[in-house]
Amino acid sequence: MSSDDMKKRAAEAALEYIEDNMVLGVGTGSTVDYFIDALSRIKHRIEGVVSSSEATTRRLKTSGIPVLDLNAAGPLPLYVDGADEANRHLQLIKGGGGALTREKIIAAASERFVCIADQSKLVDVLGTFPLPVEVIPMARSHVGRELLKRGGQPVLRENFITDNGNLILDVYNLLILEPTRLEAELNNIAGIVAVGLFALRPADVLLLGTPDGVRAMRS
Ligand code: A5P
Repeated sequence: MSSDDMKKRAAEAALEYIEDNMVLGVGTGSTVDYFIDALSRIKHRIEGVVSSSEATTRRLKTSGIPVLDLNAAGPLPLYVDGADEANRHLQLIKGGGGALTREKIIAAASERFVCIADQSKLVDVLGTFPLPVEVIPMARSHVGRELLKRGGQPVLRENFITDNGNLILDVYNLLILEPTRLEAELNNIAGIVAVGLFALRPADVLLLGTPDGVRAMRS
Protein backbone atom coordinates (compact mmCIF):
# COMPACT_ATOMS: atom_id res chain seq x y z
CA MET A 1 0.00 0.00 0.00
CA SER A 2 1.34 3.47 -0.87
CA SER A 3 1.97 6.15 1.74
CA ASP A 4 -0.72 8.25 0.05
CA ASP A 5 -3.25 5.47 0.63
CA MET A 6 -2.19 5.31 4.29
CA LYS A 7 -2.51 9.11 4.63
CA LYS A 8 -5.98 8.89 3.14
CA ARG A 9 -7.00 6.17 5.60
CA ALA A 10 -5.88 8.28 8.57
CA ALA A 11 -7.63 11.34 7.14
CA GLU A 12 -10.92 9.50 6.66
CA ALA A 13 -10.75 8.12 10.21
CA ALA A 14 -10.61 11.67 11.61
CA LEU A 15 -14.19 12.28 10.40
CA GLU A 16 -15.30 10.29 13.43
CA TYR A 17 -14.33 13.27 15.63
CA ILE A 18 -16.62 15.73 13.83
CA GLU A 19 -19.78 16.75 15.65
CA ASP A 20 -22.80 18.55 14.22
CA ASN A 21 -22.51 22.36 13.90
CA MET A 22 -18.85 22.27 14.87
CA VAL A 23 -16.23 24.87 14.03
CA LEU A 24 -12.92 23.04 13.75
CA GLY A 25 -9.32 23.95 13.01
CA VAL A 26 -7.61 22.42 9.98
CA GLY A 27 -3.86 22.18 9.41
CA THR A 28 -1.77 22.04 6.26
CA GLY A 29 -0.16 19.39 4.07
CA SER A 30 -0.89 16.43 1.85
CA THR A 31 -2.57 14.37 4.60
CA VAL A 32 -4.78 17.33 5.50
CA ASP A 33 -5.69 17.70 1.83
CA TYR A 34 -7.20 14.21 2.00
CA PHE A 35 -9.02 15.27 5.17
CA ILE A 36 -10.47 18.33 3.42
CA ASP A 37 -11.69 16.09 0.58
CA ALA A 38 -13.42 13.86 3.15
CA LEU A 39 -14.78 16.87 5.07
CA SER A 40 -16.32 18.30 1.92
CA ARG A 41 -18.66 15.29 1.82
CA ILE A 42 -20.15 16.23 5.22
CA LYS A 43 -19.75 20.01 5.01
CA HIS A 44 -23.49 20.54 5.57
CA ARG A 45 -22.97 19.21 9.12
CA ILE A 46 -20.34 21.77 10.19
CA GLU A 47 -20.45 25.52 10.66
CA GLY A 48 -17.01 26.17 9.23
CA VAL A 49 -13.26 25.83 9.58
CA VAL A 50 -10.40 27.93 10.95
CA SER A 51 -7.54 27.54 8.49
CA SER A 52 -3.82 27.29 9.28
CA SER A 53 -2.48 28.55 5.94
CA GLU A 54 -3.26 30.29 2.68
CA ALA A 55 -2.90 26.94 0.87
CA THR A 56 -5.47 25.28 3.13
CA THR A 57 -7.79 28.29 2.81
CA ARG A 58 -7.72 27.97 -0.98
CA ARG A 59 -8.51 24.27 -0.82
CA LEU A 60 -11.32 24.77 1.70
CA LYS A 61 -12.90 27.49 -0.42
CA THR A 62 -12.64 25.37 -3.56
CA SER A 63 -14.45 22.62 -1.64
CA GLY A 64 -17.20 25.04 -0.59
CA ILE A 65 -16.32 24.91 3.11
CA PRO A 66 -16.74 28.24 4.98
CA VAL A 67 -13.46 29.65 6.35
CA LEU A 68 -13.79 31.49 9.68
CA ASP A 69 -11.52 33.80 11.66
CA LEU A 70 -10.03 32.38 14.87
CA ASN A 71 -10.72 35.58 16.82
CA ALA A 72 -14.40 35.38 15.94
CA ALA A 73 -14.70 31.60 16.33
CA GLY A 74 -13.13 31.54 19.82
CA PRO A 75 -11.72 28.39 21.43
CA LEU A 76 -12.19 25.41 19.14
CA PRO A 77 -13.33 21.93 20.16
CA LEU A 78 -11.15 20.17 17.56
CA TYR A 79 -8.00 20.64 15.49
CA VAL A 80 -7.01 18.16 12.76
CA ASP A 81 -3.52 18.31 11.29
CA GLY A 82 -0.68 16.18 9.96
CA ALA A 83 2.92 15.88 11.16
CA ASP A 84 6.41 15.29 9.84
CA GLU A 85 7.38 13.12 12.82
CA ALA A 86 5.59 11.83 15.92
CA ASN A 87 6.85 9.95 18.96
CA ARG A 88 4.87 7.64 21.24
CA HIS A 89 4.12 10.55 23.60
CA LEU A 90 2.37 12.22 20.61
CA GLN A 91 4.97 14.97 20.56
CA LEU A 92 5.50 16.15 17.00
CA ILE A 93 7.77 17.84 14.53
CA LYS A 94 5.75 19.98 12.14
CA GLY A 95 6.38 22.72 9.63
CA GLY A 96 7.59 20.78 6.60
CA GLY A 97 5.06 22.87 4.69
CA GLY A 98 6.13 26.05 6.48
CA ALA A 99 2.80 26.68 8.21
CA LEU A 100 4.00 25.92 11.74
CA THR A 101 3.20 29.24 13.41
CA ARG A 102 -0.49 29.32 12.51
CA GLU A 103 -0.68 25.58 13.16
CA LYS A 104 0.73 26.14 16.63
CA ILE A 105 -1.71 28.94 17.36
CA ILE A 106 -4.69 26.82 16.36
CA ALA A 107 -3.40 23.79 18.29
CA ALA A 108 -3.05 26.01 21.38
CA ALA A 109 -6.59 27.32 20.94
CA SER A 110 -8.13 23.86 20.52
CA GLU A 111 -9.44 21.49 23.14
CA ARG A 112 -8.57 18.32 21.22
CA PHE A 113 -5.78 17.89 18.67
CA VAL A 114 -6.17 14.91 16.35
CA CYS A 115 -3.03 14.25 14.33
CA ILE A 116 -3.31 12.25 11.10
CA ALA A 117 -0.34 10.57 9.42
CA ASP A 118 0.91 7.51 7.63
CA GLN A 119 2.81 4.99 9.76
CA SER A 120 6.23 6.15 8.52
CA LYS A 121 5.90 9.30 10.66
CA LEU A 122 6.14 7.39 13.95
CA VAL A 123 9.72 7.49 15.32
CA ASP A 124 11.48 6.53 18.56
CA VAL A 125 13.33 9.85 18.89
CA LEU A 126 12.36 13.12 17.19
CA GLY A 127 14.96 14.91 15.09
CA THR A 128 15.76 12.91 11.97
CA PHE A 129 13.41 15.27 10.13
CA PRO A 130 15.07 18.72 10.24
CA LEU A 131 13.32 20.95 12.75
CA PRO A 132 11.63 23.94 11.03
CA VAL A 133 11.97 27.25 12.84
CA GLU A 134 10.16 30.41 11.66
CA VAL A 135 12.38 33.46 12.03
CA ILE A 136 11.93 37.23 11.64
CA PRO A 137 14.15 38.13 8.62
CA MET A 138 16.45 40.56 10.50
CA ALA A 139 17.16 37.89 13.15
CA ARG A 140 18.23 35.18 10.68
CA SER A 141 21.97 35.29 11.47
CA HIS A 142 21.52 35.75 15.21
CA VAL A 143 19.12 32.83 15.44
CA GLY A 144 21.42 30.74 13.23
CA ARG A 145 24.34 31.31 15.64
CA GLU A 146 22.17 30.43 18.65
CA LEU A 147 21.08 27.18 16.98
CA LEU A 148 24.69 26.29 16.14
CA LYS A 149 25.62 26.75 19.83
CA ARG A 150 23.01 24.12 20.66
CA GLY A 151 24.47 21.59 18.22
CA GLY A 152 22.04 22.13 15.34
CA GLN A 153 22.94 22.86 11.71
CA PRO A 154 20.51 25.55 10.52
CA VAL A 155 19.87 25.74 6.77
CA LEU A 156 17.87 28.59 5.27
CA ARG A 157 14.87 27.26 3.29
CA GLU A 158 15.57 28.64 -0.19
CA ASN A 159 13.00 30.77 -2.02
CA PHE A 160 10.47 30.44 0.76
CA ILE A 161 8.54 33.12 2.65
CA THR A 162 5.92 32.09 5.21
CA ASP A 163 2.33 33.31 5.16
CA ASN A 164 3.46 35.71 7.90
CA GLY A 165 6.28 37.20 5.78
CA ASN A 166 9.11 35.44 7.62
CA LEU A 167 11.91 32.94 6.86
CA ILE A 168 12.30 29.28 7.75
CA LEU A 169 15.51 27.76 9.10
CA ASP A 170 15.51 23.95 8.87
CA VAL A 171 17.70 22.66 11.69
CA TYR A 172 19.58 19.41 11.05
CA ASN A 173 21.41 17.10 13.48
CA LEU A 174 19.29 17.70 16.55
CA LEU A 175 18.78 14.56 18.60
CA ILE A 176 15.71 15.66 20.51
CA LEU A 177 15.82 13.65 23.72
CA GLU A 178 13.97 16.23 25.84
CA PRO A 179 11.40 17.78 23.49
CA THR A 180 9.61 19.99 26.04
CA ARG A 181 12.88 21.41 27.39
CA LEU A 182 14.22 22.14 23.90
CA GLU A 183 10.96 23.73 22.76
CA ALA A 184 10.89 26.04 25.79
CA GLU A 185 14.56 26.95 25.31
CA LEU A 186 14.19 27.73 21.59
CA ASN A 187 11.02 29.72 22.25
CA ASN A 188 13.19 32.07 24.32
CA ILE A 189 15.60 33.00 21.51
CA ALA A 190 14.86 36.54 20.30
CA GLY A 191 13.79 36.53 16.66
CA ILE A 192 12.24 33.06 16.63
CA VAL A 193 8.53 33.34 15.90
CA ALA A 194 7.71 29.67 16.36
CA VAL A 195 9.49 26.32 16.60
CA GLY A 196 8.09 23.31 14.76
CA LEU A 197 8.32 21.20 17.89
CA PHE A 198 4.88 20.44 19.31
CA ALA A 199 5.83 18.98 22.69
CA LEU A 200 4.46 21.47 25.23
CA ARG A 201 1.14 21.07 23.40
CA PRO A 202 1.33 17.57 21.86
CA ALA A 203 -1.46 15.83 19.97
CA ASP A 204 -4.22 14.20 22.02
CA VAL A 205 -4.88 11.48 19.45
CA LEU A 206 -2.60 10.15 16.71
CA LEU A 207 -4.32 8.30 13.86
CA LEU A 208 -1.74 6.34 11.90
CA GLY A 209 -2.67 4.87 8.54
CA THR A 210 -1.17 1.40 8.08
CA PRO A 211 -1.68 -1.35 5.48
CA ASP A 212 -3.80 -3.17 8.11
CA GLY A 213 -6.07 -0.25 8.94
CA VAL A 214 -5.85 2.76 11.23
CA ARG A 215 -3.92 2.58 14.47
CA ALA A 216 -5.18 5.06 17.09
CA MET A 217 -2.77 6.21 19.82
CA ARG A 218 -3.98 8.39 22.69
CA SER A 219 -2.10 10.46 25.26
C1 A5P B 1 2.84 21.89 7.46
O1 A5P B 1 3.52 23.04 7.81
C2 A5P B 1 3.27 20.73 8.29
O2 A5P B 1 3.25 20.95 9.64
C3 A5P B 1 2.50 19.49 7.93
O3 A5P B 1 1.57 19.16 8.91
C4 A5P B 1 3.44 18.39 7.81
O4 A5P B 1 4.48 18.81 6.95
C5 A5P B 1 2.81 17.10 7.28
O5 A5P B 1 2.68 17.14 5.91
P1 A5P B 1 2.19 15.91 5.07
O6 A5P B 1 0.82 15.58 5.52
O7 A5P B 1 2.24 16.43 3.65
O8 A5P B 1 3.16 14.80 5.29
